[in-house]
Amino acid sequence: MKQTHVLFVCLGNICRSPTTQAVFEKKALERGLRDWFVVDSAGTGDWHLGEPPHERTVLAAQRAGYDLSCLRARQVRPEDFQRFDFIFAMDESNLGNLRREAPRQHHSQIALFLEYAGMPRPWEVPDPYGGGMSGFQRVLALIERACECLLDRLCEYHQQEQNPVS
Ligand code: 4NP
Repeated sequence: MKQTHVLFVCLGNICRSPTTQAVFEKKALERGLRDWFVVDSAGTGDWHLGEPPHERTVLAAQRAGYDLSCLRARQVRPEDFQRFDFIFAMDESNLGNLRREAPRQHHSQIALFLEYAGMPRPWEVPDPYGGGMSGFQRVLALIERACECLLDRLCEYHQQEQNPVS
């Protein structure tokens, strides 16, 4: 089977993108489709390299049944643009950074996470860093809804990729 490679990207890789990675992985698991996807997350910034997710991110996720304990922040690397079929940005600023950093020849489709998932506008996942617990919970709820929609869409993509029409 040809797996579909998906990378979620935010700024610090300690709040929005690790949450999205964990939610997407769990929802794929619940549908029995975990092995269809290779999932990872990264940041465009380098301030938190090697750190676990933000403590309020971990707490909000834990309360909703997601385990972020194995995740450590990393920065987007040039090879990500070849390895991943999709790179999903959490906001317009991340999207701009990704488009600037992408090698001229690259494999990945680069898109806004919420737009590609077919969610209504606004298509930015708000940055909860520096805010209170309720902001982290709102972001998690938004990510949960969007991951259901994204999974529907990526399942179609994945199935088409197994038998591409030539
Ligand atoms: P994230 O949130 O991009 O969702 O991980 C942030 C984390 C850290 C910073 C900004 C946003 N920072 O400025 O350090």
